[in-house]
Amino acid sequence: MGLLDDIVLSPNEALQTECEPIQTIDREVKKLADRMLKIMYAAEGCGLAAPQVGVLKQLVVIDCDYTGKGSKKNPYVLINPSIVTADGDPRDFQEGCLSFPGISVSVTRPSHVVVQAYDLDGDLLQYEAEGNLMAVCLQHEIDHLHGVTMVDHLSPIKRAEALREYDEALSAGARPGETEVEE
Ligand code: NI
Repeated sequence: MGLLDDIVLSPNEALQTECEPIQTIDREVKKLADRMLKIMYAAEGCGLAAPQVGVLKQLVVIDCDYTGKGSKKNPYVLINPSIVTADGDPRDFQEGCLSFPGISVSVTRPSHVVVQAYDLDGDLLQYEAEGNLMAVCLQHEIDHLHGVTMVDHLSPIKRAEALREYDEALSAGARPGETEVEE
C-alpha cells in the first residue's frame, strides 16, 4: 500500500457529492492538507481535491509549477474556494485527473478565472489566472468540491467514449498520475 492507494477512483459516490465548507482551520485540516500534498506529489499531479481522498470537505491543493522529482515546489492550499469570475475566450485543454487513471480528455473552459479562498492561516486570498494550466486547474479542482468531474463537461457521446477508454485503461492496470496506458 502506497500513497497512491489513498486516491479515490471513479466511479465513487465521493466524486459526485457536494462537499461541506470547512468551519474551523484546526489541526485536522492542516493534517489533511499535508496528506493531500504528499499524495499529489507522489502521483505527480498538479491538483487534488479532498473528495479524491474520500473527505467531503471544501479543500483543494494545487501546484502547477512542480514537474517531477527534484523540481521546485510551489504548493497552494485553498480552503472553501469560490469562483468569483470565470470569463475570457473559451479554451480547450487536455485534462487528466488522478481519479481517472489512464485517460485525458479535452475540456473547454473559460480562459480567465478569479478565485477567492482561505489559506491555512485563515486569510482570505484572491487568485487570478489566465490562459494557463493554473486557470484550468483551479476550475477542475473546484468542480470536484461540487461533485463534478472532467467527464461531466463532455457531450454524452464523448463522455461515453472517455468512460469506455477509462475502463480499458483500468483493466490494463493504469495508476493515478498516468494519462496514457503504456502500449
Ligand atoms: Ni481531478
